[in-house]
Amino acid sequence: MTDQLAGKSGAWSARFSEPVSEWVKRYTASVSFDRRLALVDIEGSLAHAEMLHAQGLIGADDLSAIRSGMAAIRGEIERGEFAWSIDLEDVHLNIEKRLTELAGDAGKRLHTARSRNDQVATDIRLWLRGAIDDARARLHALQRALLDLAEPHADTIMPGFTHLQVAQPVTFGHHLLAYVEMFARDAERLADCRRRVNRLPLGAAALAGTSYPIDRERVARALGFDGICENSLDAVSDRDFAIEFCAAASLIMIHVSRLSEELVLWMSPRVGFIDLPDRFCTGSSIMPQKKNPDVPELARGKSGRVAGHLVALLMLMKGQPLAYNKDNQEDKEPLFDTADTVVETLHIFADLVAGIEVRASRMRQAAAEGYSTATDLADYLVRKGLPFRDAHEIVARAVRSAAARGVDLADLGLDELRGFSPLIGPDVGAALTLEGSVAARDHLGGTAPAQVRAAIARHRARLASNV
Ligand code: ARG
Repeated sequence: MTDQLAGKSGAWSARFSEPVSEWVKRYTASVSFDRRLALVDIEGSLAHAEMLHAQGLIGADDLSAIRSGMAAIRGEIERGEFAWSIDLEDVHLNIEKRLTELAGDAGKRLHTARSRNDQVATDIRLWLRGAIDDARARLHALQRALLDLAEPHADTIMPGFTHLQVAQPVTFGHHLLAYVEMFARDAERLADCRRRVNRLPLGAAALAGTSYPIDRERVARALGFDGICENSLDAVSDRDFAIEFCAAASLIMIHVSRLSEELVLWMSPRVGFIDLPDRFCTGSSIMPQKKNPDVPELARGKSGRVAGHLVALLMLMKGQPLAYNKDNQEDKEPLFDTADTVVETLHIFADLVAGIEVRASRMRQAAAEGYSTATDLADYLVRKGLPFRDAHEIVARAVRSAAARGVDLADLGLDELRGFSPLIGPDVGAALTLEGSVAARDHLGGTAPAQVRAAIARHRARLASNV
């Protein structure tokens, strides 16, 4: 490897008496990863060129040469024929150089009233806007898959847990709706983040604005931005919009991770609440009996990776004085990987949820085993006039005695139950059944099957209006 690169053709080369070393060239180049921005870079350049022409800053012939040059470049990129060069550092210089080859002086005029600083900030925002729309669509698909599974299980009884111990019966549909709400908030967060992503930095130039009579509003409209990043120093330097996205993405992954943890647990033969189709599992190279829930485990692992990217971007920003600093080139890999990981994960999870096989009898059996209707018995006593604390104490005694004999509360005869409180009458039966317990929680957000069905309908209506 040579130490020096002869003839580095950077845009600034006349200022330098020697080329950068081979190590520095590789250290500072970003084209290996920022070429992903190529198509939005072209889109941004075309909007800029149109504005330059409308403002009388370049001729009609220049604009048309730029347009046809860019169309050719887009074709080369899409066909995989574009010759990317690390000597040209980044995606912007690669495209500009090729444009100049194809369009001559018109290509050299494109960078009038622009800097790579506002150019790259524009590109990332355009790219991220697309990634957000993609992630939101995936979140909606996952919510639909959860609703499709929740509907037939609106009255499937399972144990609800606190401290991972059987607490009170709930329905499986109700349990799934908890995740629908998490993902609904995630989609809302992304929509909110998009409002701040979707603003135009172009026109800020390097940092101070430009001496040309530009029209930023026109460029914003052409690129579908909702507004402009006004202050030029802020426009080129802050990456808070990318940090916000990574924060929203981290929460998505944390929610996926919690769901994953439950899927792994439910699929354990010890629990056996569900099974996952083979296409989401792998076997063991040594233990022939194994079927492992690799996909949820991997998603749980990837949540750490995305949260790591969030921290990386926060740390990237924290010590930077105004305005642009090269540190910001480091924003791309974490951002791209975050978007890729979230979109892929959500895509797979929508399929995976649709494939869950529910073992309703195992769920019911587990709910029946953990004295999960103890609270209902206490509530029954309260309805008979006992203060709740006294009712709690009486039922605790009943549970203790049933547990000592290894039976359920429902197995205790009426006479036995009356031994704990004479207020208990023959109407106690409904309070002790699992169905009676869930049906009793019949209020907005409760686990009663009717409420679960109503909530499913509300969520479907919300999704139909794309919220
Ligand atoms: N590749 C650079 C980035 O990603 C583009 C901006 C470079 N600007 C500069 N003045 N060095 O941030």
